[in-house]
Amino acid sequence: MNIKALVFDAYGTLLDVHSVVALCEKLFPGKGTALSQLWRARQLEYTWLRSLMGRYEDFSQVTADALRYACGTLDLKLESSHVLQLMDAYDRLTPFPDALEAMPQLTQYRRVILSNGSQAMLNAAVKHAGFTAHLDAILSVDLIKIYKPDPRVYQLAVSHLSIVKAEIGFVSSNYWDAAGAKSFGFKVFWINRSGALPDALGAVPDAVLGRLTELPALITSPN
Ligand code: 2OP
Repeated sequence: MNIKALVFDAYGTLLDVHSVVALCEKLFPGKGTALSQLWRARQLEYTWLRSLMGRYEDFSQVTADALRYACGTLDLKLESSHVLQLMDAYDRLTPFPDALEAMPQLTQYRRVILSNGSQAMLNAAVKHAGFTAHLDAILSVDLIKIYKPDPRVYQLAVSHLSIVKAEIGFVSSNYWDAAGAKSFGFKVFWINRSGALPDALGAVPDAVLGRLTELPALITSPN
């Protein structure tokens, strides 16, 4: 496949954003799953909408705003102590086991994260999850203050790695991100752990994998 470096999405790909469910459920019994789902959905929508409006705020702000909206919609009384606890949980998300298992098998490639997360959030979560030793760099959109899937974000990774797009493998579980990366020109691997339906966005990943552990054999195989 002639891949020289791998670029990973963070939230939803290496880190399980829904590992906050347990705390959501503890704070708001019976509403944990609904809150986690709506919180994530609004968090993403706010990144896209803010990018379109040219009104960037970092991912930490967007995540807190989305939490407030989600709680309001679900009629949950959100205290400031809840915000602190839930935002703190975002710095301690559980890694996906297959991501942890795959990383040591990919040491021949330069590996970086390219994420919508703020640098501080990413540094904390990556360290807590145990990925630090497996990464050469953690690139945050905060450097250019616009969110994925804007092509300028993917260009950040190209500039950092100084490798042509076609020789960079981009790994994401978020289909919108995989489509954005493919449209940009990366070789794209969509990690579809949940058997989700691909979105109709006009850009199709190069390969669909059920687990990240399938990646090492796929990219090192001669065909
Ligand atoms: C990312 O890590 C938000 O999942 C997205 O960039």
